[in-house]
Amino acid sequence: MTDMNRKDVLAKHKDYVLGAVANYYKEPVVLESGKGLRLTDIDGNTYLDFFGGILTVSIGQCDERVNGPLKAQIDRLGHVSTLYPTLPIVELAERMARITPGKLQKSMFTASGTEADETAVALAQVYTGSTELIALRHGYSGRSLLAQSLTAHSPWRSVPTQVAGIKHAPAPYCYRCPLKLTYPTCGVACATDLEELIRTTTTGKIAGLIAEPIQGVGGFIVPPPEYFQMATDIIRKYGGVFICDEVQTGFGRTGGKMFGIEHWGVEPDIMTMAKGVANGMPLGVTIATPEIADAFQALTLSTFGGNPMSAAAANATIEVIENEKLADNSEAMGALLRAGLEELQAKHPKHMGDVRGKGLMQAVEFVDNEPAGDRTHSPTTTALVFEAAKERGLLVGKGGLNGNVLRISPALTVTASEIEEALAILGEACAQLPT
Ligand SMILES: Cc1ncc(COP(=O)(O)O)c(C=O)c1O
Repeated sequence: MTDMNRKDVLAKHKDYVLGAVANYYKEPVVLESGKGLRLTDIDGNTYLDFFGGILTVSIGQCDERVNGPLKAQIDRLGHVSTLYPTLPIVELAERMARITPGKLQKSMFTASGTEADETAVALAQVYTGSTELIALRHGYSGRSLLAQSLTAHSPWRSVPTQVAGIKHAPAPYCYRCPLKLTYPTCGVACATDLEELIRTTTTGKIAGLIAEPIQGVGGFIVPPPEYFQMATDIIRKYGGVFICDEVQTGFGRTGGKMFGIEHWGVEPDIMTMAKGVANGMPLGVTIATPEIADAFQALTLSTFGGNPMSAAAANATIEVIENEKLADNSEAMGALLRAGLEELQAKHPKHMGDVRGKGLMQAVEFVDNEPAGDRTHSPTTTALVFEAAKERGLLVGKGGLNGNVLRISPALTVTASEIEEALAILGEACAQLPT
């Protein structure tokens, strides 16, 4: 082990890691070990983890049910590339076909969500013979040039020249309706607007729509229940396919269902996954219907894609999620968390503008002086609560275009007492808010 302390680590990070790689907190936490939802930093401080490495550690840190099979796999076979079929890969591919909705059947494995989305777009373009894409404002797709271009958050776009042929539709963001309407009298105009978007800004024949069932980086934006049915009807009318990005919402995260889109009663043509699939081992998955998958005939490979270690970790993670009925736990614990956040909102109506989410994907959008009704974004109060929670030993996430949303997403194994503990800390943190 090392004798470096936190200051040494931060100094080396500053000197040798790209400065744009953002760290959370004014004084970044240098995490060293963890078990379940408990993390320990290099100075021995402990934290309750309610962000899970960005909704990724699905069943908690260092769980032997995943680490056991993973260690066994490393000792048996570590790497071969996608040029060789392996047992863990075919097991995982079959499992994916079983647990994903509708006719989704054939998977391509990569090493990240970005690559999963890139692969999905290529499949859609080859299948439809069209290149034009619709994405949603406030959506996030990753860090490659194409993924940045699909992403509708200027702070996450570093390259001035973006990929052409992508149109961004208004997000189904009811708290800040981009069309200044109110649900349900709006008639879900953000969905019907897709038709005009396609007819006025594309050739009228599109490759597809890529969208998250609940927008993650955007700040856990939950669409109206009819949105996806209406949107996909329009997309398919103009020749497009629906690429459902389940990178954040997959694997029980949204409660009661394995995948977020299942809440909205729509079957995707292509689905992408990453994050929570393998409890932290790098893995991207793109699954498509046989017709779409078989249309793609060019050679393709991913050196690290679906490596035996990530595949073994994914098989084990999904087995635990299914066997332990963790999607149901996510629903029950999510309801407890939500009720606690709403109680807190009732105490701080000026600052906690919107509490939203599904399952263990819950968010609070902070605003200034809410009773005035102008819903002014408040990144300052968000940061205050974020830092105060960390000082008291609770780690949560941040998000939203304006950095004014707290994202709260513990492992699916979270218990009622851990939820109570987190809510108590959030209560203390919110007590710091100006009156
Ligand atoms: C919805 C969504 N899609 C894609 C990505 C990209 O995944 P990765 O960071 O693994 O490349 C992310 C990452 O946050 C995401 O939230």
